[in-house]
Amino acid sequence: MEKEFIEGRQGEVLVMESTTQNSKKLFLESYGCQMNFSDSEIVASILNEEGYNTTAQLEEADLILLNTCSIREKAEQTVRKRLSQFNTLKKQKPNLTIGVLGCMAERLKTKFLEEEHLVDLVVGPDAYRDLPNLLKDTDDGRNAINVLLSKEETYADISPIRLGGNGVTAFVSITRGCDNMCTFCVVPFTRGRERSRDPHSVLKECSELVANGYKEITLLGQNVDSYLWYGGGPKKDFNKATELQKATAVNFAHLLDLVATAHPDTRLRFSTSNPQDMNEDVLYVMAKHDNICKYIHLPVQSGSTTVLERMNRQHTREEYMELLDKIREIVPDCAISHDMITGFCGETEEEHRDTLSLMEYAQYDFGYMFAYSERPGTPAHKKMEDDVPADIKKRRLSEVIAMQQKLSLQRMNSYVGKTHKVLIEGTSKKSQDYWYGRISQNAVVVFPKTENTNIGDFVLVGVIDCTSATLIGEKQ
Ligand code: SAH
Ligand code: F3S
Repeated sequence: MEKEFIEGRQGEVLVMESTTQNSKKLFLESYGCQMNFSDSEIVASILNEEGYNTTAQLEEADLILLNTCSIREKAEQTVRKRLSQFNTLKKQKPNLTIGVLGCMAERLKTKFLEEEHLVDLVVGPDAYRDLPNLLKDTDDGRNAINVLLSKEETYADISPIRLGGNGVTAFVSITRGCDNMCTFCVVPFTRGRERSRDPHSVLKECSELVANGYKEITLLGQNVDSYLWYGGGPKKDFNKATELQKATAVNFAHLLDLVATAHPDTRLRFSTSNPQDMNEDVLYVMAKHDNICKYIHLPVQSGSTTVLERMNRQHTREEYMELLDKIREIVPDCAISHDMITGFCGETEEEHRDTLSLMEYAQYDFGYMFAYSERPGTPAHKKMEDDVPADIKKRRLSEVIAMQQKLSLQRMNSYVGKTHKVLIEGTSKKSQDYWYGRISQNAVVVFPKTENTNIGDFVLVGVIDCTSATLIGEKQ
């Protein structure tokens, strides 16, 4: 629910479903956003060709890779702490290679090799195809680094190896990078320019997933609504495209329609939507297809127009409210969630209260909430002062969290007494005798196992009770 939700996934060890004849062992741990988890599946695929199988046993690894996150200072500290735990292991096993991937690799570059002597290998998010070459260098005892960002790379032709999953839900990435330059955010610097993936390769990956028994697909990108395929290349060069390329371009609403039509029995989700790029066309496609889940993650960051301006978000409080109204009108049963930052540069009490009142207006189902963490090199770091004291950031964060808990409970209560279609995703963490799944609106449901029900089944569940985070039901 709160900030722990995203950080709760940190440090997840990724192990592949089936092992092949490979002899070398890779220990791959992913931190941060869903995109990193999806990228790790690409890395596992590239290294599988090089003779590596993943392992959950740190001690037997020949290669340790951490796919890292830079979004907040705490995320970076977690990775540093994890690295320090490999000290003894490296002493016992001098041939062990330790590498960092992802956003911290991109942000710190050679500094990583200087500051963390344990690290042999530094690879940015657009350079994973170079891993086999880089590993030749580390095998010869040299450090290796590639942090080149690309304007085209989408890894479209690489079939990800599904790691650590339930065999039922999967991510398919459709865009990489971000051009939005929100002043607080490090992502445009670590993941480079925004580019979209060929729709044919998206459709092909979805078909393979469906053929392999997957029941739910989440289309993934920093900013999915900004998806635009016109033959490849950065989004910002679209104006240089030929007339034919412009006329045949595929936008997000179109892509969503294509995937939903091709797989009517598969659930579809997407994340993340940026309010400035979300439009009516996408909402009409959502309303048209039963298999597109009625849920939008719509980060807003603040409810105050003046803060939004300082953040370089391209919309006002009122425009965001209009978008909320439109969602409620076109997709009436839609759940909406948010990301919120408290204590951004110069935030006053009045601006903070604007955030609380926007939350009430939106009636959010849930949210991910954070205290502002200044990131080196971002526009906010260069041009603004991180002047809200830590204790005030924290107090405002707890007020925002308390507000969300109240709203979540209200929203969850509105699902009680009704029957919902649920995809069974696994056994409940709290009880072996209960299944765990989600309704279309993304709320988690637990209900007692009955005979002849299995992971991957769609079942009708009557919801009889709830907490602010979980629905409790029974199979109909
Ligand atoms: N569009 C992206 C957003 C990535 S960052 C997506 O796919 O989710 C995820 C969230 O982290 C942001 O929406 C924002 O709320 C939060 N965040 C980003 N930079 C931050 C910072 N410097 N301090 C605190 N929170 C931050
Ligand atoms: Fe970051 Fe804003 Fe893009 S939050 S990922 S710069 S939309």
